[in-house]
Amino acid sequence: MGNTIVRMSGICKRFPGVKALDDVQFELKSGEVMALLGENGAGKSTLVKILSGVYTRDSGQMEIFGSPQGDLTPKTAQALGVAIIHQELNMCRHLSIAENMFLGRELVGGLFLNDREMEQEAGRVLSELNIDLNPGDIVGDLPVSKQQMVEIAKALSTNARVLIMDEPTSALTSKEIGDLFRIIKQLREQGCGIIYISHRLDELRHIVDRVTVMRDGKYILTEDFHNISMDEIIAAMVGREIKEKFPHVTCEKGEKIFEVRNLNAGKLVRDINFELYKGEIVGIAGLMGAGRTETTRAIFGADPKTSGEIFVEGKEVKITSPETAIRAGVVMAPEDRKKDGLCTKLTVRHNIALPNLDWLCDLFSFVRSAKENTTCAEAVRNLKIKTPGVDVDAGNLSGGNQQKVVVGKWLARESRVVIFDEPTRGIDVAAKVEIYNLMNQLKLQGIGVLFVSSELPEILGIADRILVMCDGRITGELAAEDATQEKILTLATRFEEKFLA
Ligand SMILES: Nc1ncnc2c1ncn2[C@@H]1O[C@H](COP(=O)(O)OP(=O)(O)OP(=O)(O)O)[C@@H](O)[C@H]1O
Ligand SMILES: [Mg+2]
Repeated sequence: MGNTIVRMSGICKRFPGVKALDDVQFELKSGEVMALLGENGAGKSTLVKILSGVYTRDSGQMEIFGSPQGDLTPKTAQALGVAIIHQELNMCRHLSIAENMFLGRELVGGLFLNDREMEQEAGRVLSELNIDLNPGDIVGDLPVSKQQMVEIAKALSTNARVLIMDEPTSALTSKEIGDLFRIIKQLREQGCGIIYISHRLDELRHIVDRVTVMRDGKYILTEDFHNISMDEIIAAMVGREIKEKFPHVTCEKGEKIFEVRNLNAGKLVRDINFELYKGEIVGIAGLMGAGRTETTRAIFGADPKTSGEIFVEGKEVKITSPETAIRAGVVMAPEDRKKDGLCTKLTVRHNIALPNLDWLCDLFSFVRSAKENTTCAEAVRNLKIKTPGVDVDAGNLSGGNQQKVVVGKWLARESRVVIFDEPTRGIDVAAKVEIYNLMNQLKLQGIGVLFVSSELPEILGIADRILVMCDGRITGELAAEDATQEKILTLATRFEEKFLA
């Protein structure tokens, strides 16, 4: 580790109704990876946004490479060598990869943009990162994990010396995570300082040198990673010990509540058959690209089906759109919350009320506000959504709290089946337990719970039964008692012979 390249002290930042940062200190050395940890809403993103010029601080000192800094803008921060990969994907969906990478710093030749050079340079960075994409590809057409890799490539293309990664791995496949870690180590060798924010605590040991923990907008501690245990880190984040990371409740398996027969859709949903019973949680495991999200989207009517029948409580239901799914009692919390799950420009209240207007409105289609108030208040209370009130824009909540709003709006209505696609992505340890408790609560109420997850410990800890998918098919089913990571991975890589040839 080298010299101190970033020093922040006494940093305060207030938003309407929230003190996001209260006298926070932070230090980064060259050639180190510093993990910045804390619960949802602790202030991590706000702190790094101040360092990268997205927000200005209310008070406090900030030094970068030894020189004191006043208020930065994204441009001046970039000129100092500070690059940030934002938590929420931040790209222009209709532009190409190369256009996104050079947005705001386009290469020009004479009067015109030098498209060729930009594409070449973008291609170089992509191949350095082992990303098999074409610089001309339109970003909006890429799956989330690829968009995230492009976001990373974009930050690296600025030759940063201070690189901030705000939850870079939350949407990546394990191979991509491996590539990213390789790059992080390489950058560290070159003397780059890296700030690494993540809720995936188990991945820290691969790359992290030191940790800084924040809680409720306050600085708690900084420690060498080798000198602190995971339990101590969690206790510092949460302010208490978490006894049970995967609370499991057992209850009697009841009658069949949901059935999918011979479902086919697109290329990645091939002859899917399964049943859900009351009193159980079913997990869908598989590698990224196995068709799990596609399957849930087809069930929910978000994508068209080529064939297949769906039964709720023994009766066939025709699901042709999310609206018909909701009416049939089937609801879903999607994977890409910013695009599909949440209206960031609407308030928390309206996000929660929106899918519930059918029963929140009176005969004349006016919203019954007393009912709306209690529904929203309940969702905020049950999920411990951290927000100054229900009338702030959902987009202003911290990432994890946005996810809670997505889940909250569905819990407000009486559903028969709830489908969760990666429900705990970007959610802190304590809030994860809250989401698991909620799933358990649904299970005890006799509601069918289906959840897709890429985190094997979570699937193993929470599901009663596990379906494993590979290449659009269900390749096996395991009872939770007999399931192991190895067994799941074997099924998750069971490709058909013709694909291996
Ligand atoms: N633009 C904004 N307007 C109003 N409040 C905000 C804004 N940005 C952040 N906040 C509030 O500041 C607090 C800190 O949020 P921040 O996004 O920094 O948390 P975080 O530690 O990054 O959480 P997460 O792990 O969920 O991403 C939260 O209470 C959040 O609601
Ligand atoms: Mg954040």
